[in-house]
Amino acid sequence: MLWMAATARLDSCYTPFLSTDWNLFNSLMSHSAKVDQYAVMGNPIAHSQSPGIHAQFAKQTGESLAYEAILVGIDHFAQAVDDFQQSGGCGLNITVPFKQQAWSLAQVRSERAELAGAVNTLMYQEGQWFGDNTDGVGLVNDLVQNHQIKLQGKKILVLGAGGAARGVLAPLLAQQPDVVMIANRTASKARELATLFSNHGNIKGMGFDELPEQPFDCIINATAASLQGEVPPIPVACIGAQTCAYDMMYAAHATAFLQWAQKNGAQSCIDGLGMLVEQAAESFYIWRHVRPQTEPVITYLREKMLSSLEG
Ligand code: ATR
Repeated sequence: MLWMAATARLDSCYTPFLSTDWNLFNSLMSHSAKVDQYAVMGNPIAHSQSPGIHAQFAKQTGESLAYEAILVGIDHFAQAVDDFQQSGGCGLNITVPFKQQAWSLAQVRSERAELAGAVNTLMYQEGQWFGDNTDGVGLVNDLVQNHQIKLQGKKILVLGAGGAARGVLAPLLAQQPDVVMIANRTASKARELATLFSNHGNIKGMGFDELPEQPFDCIINATAASLQGEVPPIPVACIGAQTCAYDMMYAAHATAFLQWAQKNGAQSCIDGLGMLVEQAAESFYIWRHVRPQTEPVITYLREKMLSSLEG
């Protein structure tokens, strides 16, 4: 099955397991009554988990809504958003590669979207699009609430300095860690990010080879290395007996980074499936002002992911 080969991050998931059932559910919902319309837009999008996650949230909370996945041509994002709104759509999730375009398109943005430089949640209200970014809060909620990882006063290492890393820095710094170090293959990008967020807490940027040979409390892999089955070249000494290793990617098998962390003695190894569901829950809350329970949805997705391996 594809789960064995593929590693995914947030909504760029390659598994086929949910689409049929939930597309049918959404189709029935949208035709049976006039309900609020939501969607996720991206390219590719066919195997997005979001329709399934939001259908479960809707069922669980009794909210009446429809949610579909829309494949958008690379040069047609603004038109697709406009068409969606003209047909009565009220909210969107935005995934790869349109998050920066969604940021530009939003007439009003939250502070966290402003800092992230990217928007993954749009809500149409009072004649304009409000843009937010729920990725960072999704990560923090998964770490702090689901896994009881304390970040306050801790030493955090973020690997990578692309959009995924930038999106989580402000919510991480809001937890008041002792320090956030960003390490990246291209050191200048890590330094630029550190400068950008320097007003938000103690943050430093560097190349992998400049990392101190000391254990961190939490190491978050926000690079795309896991997609290639690679591990960022960081010193083994960065892992200690208390270290939590977190990969923003997820797959049925532990990612290369998590396997490496486990082999080198990390206390806990967590993949990004919980982050995926938590960021979706935050979007749902923005749209519906109701907070769904995430734990049953994470469990459901985990079981499906594992059973797809056996099937
Ligand atoms: P995203 O929006 O998903 O973060 P991105 O902006 O293209 O995607 O950033 C990808 C990140 O993964 C970058 O930090 C990249 O390092 P560079 O800035 O040096 O390109 C990092 N990355 C990609 N492949 C990697 C690999 N094999 N090893 C280490 N880092 C890698």
